Amino acid sequence: MTTTEQLDRDRVRELFDLRGSYLAEVGGGYEGDPYPVWHRLREQAAVHPGTVHELTGYDGPANFQGLPHLDRPHFSAFTYAACDAAYRDAEVFAASLTPVDPGNGSLAVSNSMIAMGGRRHRRYRALVQPSFVPGKAGWWIRNWIERTVDLLIDGFADARRAELNVDFCAAIPVLTITGSFGVPVEKALDIRAALRNPAAIVEILRPIVAARRESPQDDLISVLVEAEMTDEDGVAHRLTDAEIYSFALLLLTAGSGTTWKQMGITLTALLQRPEVLAAVRAERALLRPAIEEALRWVPTDPMFSRYVTRDVDFHGVRLPEGSVLHLCVGAANRDPARWERPDEFDISRRLRPSFAFGGGAHVCLGMHVARAEMRIGIGALLDRLPNLRLDPDAEPPRFIGLYERGATEIPVVFG
Ligand code: HEM
Repeated sequence: MTTTEQLDRDRVRELFDLRGSYLAEVGGGYEGDPYPVWHRLREQAAVHPGTVHELTGYDGPANFQGLPHLDRPHFSAFTYAACDAAYRDAEVFAASLTPVDPGNGSLAVSNSMIAMGGRRHRRYRALVQPSFVPGKAGWWIRNWIERTVDLLIDGFADARRAELNVDFCAAIPVLTITGSFGVPVEKALDIRAALRNPAAIVEILRPIVAARRESPQDDLISVLVEAEMTDEDGVAHRLTDAEIYSFALLLLTAGSGTTWKQMGITLTALLQRPEVLAAVRAERALLRPAIEEALRWVPTDPMFSRYVTRDVDFHGVRLPEGSVLHLCVGAANRDPARWERPDEFDISRRLRPSFAFGGGAHVCLGMHVARAEMRIGIGALLDRLPNLRLDPDAEPPRFIGLYERGATEIPVVFG
C-alpha cells in the first residue's frame, strides 16, 4: 500500500480545515486582510495597549501563545525595531513566567523547552540542535521528505487536476515529523487529531520509545533516547521518558501545522503570479528567494508573545511586570523602515532576515527542515506537473485566519 492510500483524505481535510472547529480557537474565523490595520497601528505607535486580535478588530475566539491570560495586562508591538529589541532581551521579555519541568510537570507544550529560559533552555536545545542544522537537511530529505513528496504526487499526477493545500501541503510536514519519530503512516493522523490530548500521543509513542531504547535506529526519536544531558551539578544522565515525551509533543506540534500553511501561502503567491512561477520554473535557484519572500510577506504565525519580568519603559510605553507583550511579527515583516514597498511580493528584493521564524534564543529550531520541505515539495510539483496553474473554474485561494494564517483550497490544473 502507498502512503497516499494509507492517508484517509476526508480525515486530512477535516483536521486541516482552517475554517473547521479545529482551528477556530486560534482566530480561524478571521477572513479579512490584517495588513492595512497593522500599517495604521504601526504608524500611530510602536507599541499599543491590547492584544493583536482586539487591535485588529476581531472579536471571535483567538487563543495562542500568551493568550488568553485574562488576569494580565496585554500590549502589542508592531515595528521591526520593537520586536527585535524584545527578542534580544530575554531577561526582561521571558518565554514564560511559570516554572517549567518536563521531567515531572504536566504533559503540555507549555511545559517544554519553548517555555524555558537562560542556560537551562540552551542545555535542552543543544540536545536536538545537531539534528536540525543546515548540514542535516539532506538527512531529512533522503529519509522522509523526498519519498513522501513523490508518493503524494503519484496520487494525483494522472488526474490533471488537484487541490494542493490539503492533499499535498498539509500531508508533507505531518508525515515528515511523524516519520522521524518512527510513527507509522496510518497513525500519523491520530497524532494530528490528538494534539490537544497529549496523553493519547504518549500512548502512540510509548512502544516506539521502548523499542528504540532496545535498539536505536537512524531517526529523531533515537536521537532523543540516546541523548545525554549534563545537569547543573555536572552529572550526565539520559533523558527520562517524560522528558522525551515533552520534546516529542513540542516537535510534533511545532513541525506540522506551520510548514503546511507556509507552503500553501508560498504556492498561492506563485500561482497568482504566473510570470514569477515561470521564472522559478526556468531558474530553480529562485525557489529559495521565493520561499524567503513568502515567509516575510505572509508568515503563517504572525504573532508570538513574551512575558515582562520587571517594570520597563519600552518604545514609549510603560510595561508593568507580569504583563504580556505580543510581538506582531506579521507587521514587523512589512515595516517600511526595513523593506521598501513592503506589501509587494518581490522575489528579487535584497534578502534581509525577517521574523517569520521568530528571533533570539527561541528562534525556530526546525527552520531548515521547513525550508527543505517547501523547496523539495514545490520543486517536485514544478518537475512533474507541466503547465501547472490555478484552476480557472474554481474559487481562487484566499488567505484566512488570524494567529495561524493560511490559504483556503488551492485548486490547480496541469498538463
Ligand atoms: C514554515 C514553518 C515554520 C514556521 C513559520 C515556524 C515558526 C516558529 C517560530 C516563530 C518560533 C519561535 C516561537 C517563539 O518565539 O516563541 C518557532 C520555534 C520552534 N519551532 Fe518552528 N516553525 C516552522 C517549522 C518548524 C518545524 C518543521 C519544526 C520541527 C521539525 C519546528 C520546531 C520548532 C521548535 C522546536 C521551536 C522552539 C525552539 C525553542 O524553544 O528553542 N518548527 N518556530
